[in-house]
Amino acid sequence: MIRINIIGAGRLGKTLAALARRSGRYRVQDVMTRGADSAAAACAFIGMGRAVTEWADVSAADLYLLAVPDAAIADCAQRLAAGVPAGAVVFHASGVSGSELLRPAAARGAHIGSLHPAFSFADPAVALENFSDVLCALEGDAEACAALRELAQAIGGRPFELADGGKPAYHAALSVASNYLVTLTAIARHLAGQGGVPEELITPLLGGLMRQTLENALALGPQAALTGPIARGDASTVALHLQALDDEGLRAVYQALGRQTAALAGERLSEPARRQVLSALGAAEDSGPVQSLAG
Ligand SMILES: NC(=O)c1ccc[n+]([C@@H]2O[C@H](COP(=O)([O-])OP(=O)(O)OC[C@H]3O[C@@H](n4cnc5c(N)ncnc54)[C@H](OP(=O)(O)O)[C@@H]3O)[C@@H](O)[C@H]2O)c1
Repeated sequence: MIRINIIGAGRLGKTLAALARRSGRYRVQDVMTRGADSAAAACAFIGMGRAVTEWADVSAADLYLLAVPDAAIADCAQRLAAGVPAGAVVFHASGVSGSELLRPAAARGAHIGSLHPAFSFADPAVALENFSDVLCALEGDAEACAALRELAQAIGGRPFELADGGKPAYHAALSVASNYLVTLTAIARHLAGQGGVPEELITPLLGGLMRQTLENALALGPQAALTGPIARGDASTVALHLQALDDEGLRAVYQALGRQTAALAGERLSEPARRQVLSALGAAEDSGPVQSLAG
């Protein structure tokens, strides 16, 4: 049995601990929070474990999960480090930070890593039942990654490894895909309202188009899925769009995304058409390089 200590047994910590116990391959040992009540409640949820509230009472284990809020990880790693045996694996579950937060434990001979499940643990009871085939991003030293791959598989996750230092870009990808999609929806709704589309028709009007476009982009790839005035080199339509945007912030968003869209269109745009579109977007040739997202 692999012994695992849980430091911070909130939504994610107690759910992963319960899944580890259920796998039959892990013994949940210490369950630490700052309050005795929350530690005891977490042990009850997990169905195993000893409630602990003091760092000095944390016993030796093979794995240590630091499932405290992101802002507390570095401080908790510092406090935990003195009691961690060499060769143990210390990891956290933050999406944006890497194992560098755990360096104090590495200095004591521990292996360090992180395991981020792309999943919402908002309701632990629901999460426990639905955690299946969840993609889990791993990062850290080789020994930590091996141990975390084994854990992820045991609890029903699908592990994959990130590049060294790749955590912020990985998390930005999730934010762009999720949060910015919502922001784009809000902008499109605003413009539809400005154009006089009846309120009750805005969702059906945009919803059908957005769903179809997303399906195409995922199935065909972004470049093949791209349609519309920029991909066609229709500079006069782009100019009319910009005239309709009376808010400076929205114009800036439209212009920045327009430049990326022109770059994505790649060879589908002739060089003269590309120049006309960029000019309509108010983007001079010297307005800085645009990352080619084509291909
Ligand atoms: N929730 C999600 O859906 C989700 C998804 C992916 C990744 N994550 C990551 O998982 C980690 C935990 O998030 P969460 O949502 O589970 O947080 P949470 O529900 O707020 O739980 C945090 C836990 O840490 C304890 N805690 C807080 N400060 C502590 C400290 N200084 N020392 C010891 N224990 C402390 C809290 O209990 P007391 O207040 O009683 O001490 C609580 O048990 C974060 O890194 C987060 O980014 C979360």
